[in-house]
Amino acid sequence: MRFFARGMVKNEITAMSKLRLRGFEIHKSYLPQEAQRDLIDALRPVLKAAPLFSPKVPGGGQMSVRMTSAGAFGWYSDAEGYRYAEKHPRGVEWPAIPAPILAIWQDLTGLERQPDCCLINYYGEEARMGLHQDKDEADFSYPVVSVSLGDDGLLRVGGQSRGGRTDSVWLNSGDVVVMGGEARLAYHGVDRIRFRSSRLLPKGGRLNLTLRVVT
Ligand code: SIN
Ligand code: MN
Repeated sequence: MRFFARGMVKNEITAMSKLRLRGFEIHKSYLPQEAQRDLIDALRPVLKAAPLFSPKVPGGGQMSVRMTSAGAFGWYSDAEGYRYAEKHPRGVEWPAIPAPILAIWQDLTGLERQPDCCLINYYGEEARMGLHQDKDEADFSYPVVSVSLGDDGLLRVGGQSRGGRTDSVWLNSGDVVVMGGEARLAYHGVDRIRFRSSRLLPKGGRLNLTLRVVT
């Protein structure tokens, strides 16, 4: 069964532009359609070797987002808490982060240090992600780089403490967000997706890749 199809072109003109929202650097239309399809191709063997799973959360219950990872570490959650794990829950090593994904990190951060985790989140029609901080990493001076593929997702961004004003922005397929500097510990979440707004994934849904330096 093919999880993804290729060759589907959205009938719209997109122009690259850079926005700032609460310190988040949003590179609109950073990836042209062909590059998006190449990324999907690169992700197919990763998802085969390390299938998506629905993590349990410490308070009980399960995340609506399905996820897996590539890299030396994968983000994991269960009743005991959030953490990075050296293996997929099936006991296999996480696959390597595909080169075209590392190239995005290189281009946008210019850092010598490479990310050691690429968290892959899949949002189906009803999936969302509550407001949270990314704080399971050792050194917050490294940014988190987030790549959106597939259906549009409504990103909500707040400040460094819970509560207070939030702002929202729709992320479209091919957008890349750099969460660094003061915004590295900003609360963020995804309220909803516009299911079937993109044709990149034949079954619909949104993939989000976040590149992180864990150790
Ligand atoms: C995340 O915070 O891990 C994902 C953000 C997103 O899906 O845009
Ligand atoms: Mn996050």
